[in-house]
Amino acid sequence: MAVTIKSPQEIALMREAGKILAEVHERLGEIIAPGISTWEIDCKGEEWIRQAGCIPSFKNYEGYPASICVSINDEVVHGIPSKEHHLFEGDIVSLDAGVIYQGYQSDAARTHGVGNIDAENQRLIDVTRESFFQGIKKAVEGNRLYDISAAIQKYVEENGFSVVRDLVGHGIGSALHEEPEVPNFKPFKGRGIRLRAGMTLAIEPMVNAGAYDVWILEDDWTVVTQDGANSAHYENTILITEGEPEILSLN
Ligand code: MF3
Ligand code: CO
Repeated sequence: MAVTIKSPQEIALMREAGKILAEVHERLGEIIAPGISTWEIDCKGEEWIRQAGCIPSFKNYEGYPASICVSINDEVVHGIPSKEHHLFEGDIVSLDAGVIYQGYQSDAARTHGVGNIDAENQRLIDVTRESFFQGIKKAVEGNRLYDISAAIQKYVEENGFSVVRDLVGHGIGSALHEEPEVPNFKPFKGRGIRLRAGMTLAIEPMVNAGAYDVWILEDDWTVVTQDGANSAHYENTILITEGEPEILSLN
């Protein structure tokens, strides 16, 4: 299916989905502490999503078994919550979640420090988040898609980190993953599609402290860095407008 322009009615539903998801992330951020299991994080997230009248979009998505992806330290994305996995002081943890509100989706991720973390881990989290904001400065009608990609990559690499190549952002709407793919690096060819008001995109830099190479673990989900260095993730669902982009999943 081609890239779609959302109607005002669709945008209103995505705005609500985004608002609810932003709230869920704020609340999840408050329970991140040494000792909590990643399973407890998933339970709380699912409970709050359903309480708000939404469906957790990740649950059973292509067989993924939970509502919140919880990825610790060298885990890049798609970590599977477990009663056996607990957070420790000094860890960094990425939480990725998606909700469906009346048939429309929102997708967002945040990375948190657990207790006191060292300065380099904090810098990794901050650079990852800021790379998203550098990217969306280019997310204006008339620009090209890879202008966003290039801006993210430039900011990350200037700060001495690397951008994961094997996973990308995406269009989003009534489906979690729609066209186009949104890389966080500039592809060799082309400038990407022209951005139009009414397009909705999930922009999600995944940034490694070391090299960009990743593996997938035996569980077929958990993506980890090959060199064992830490990784951070930051994502929001955004709307392209005639002016500034609107960030739907940040309150
Ligand atoms: N947030 C992820 C993405 O952007 C989706 C997680 S895959 C799932 O594409 F299986 F966990 F749902
Ligand atoms: Co996504």
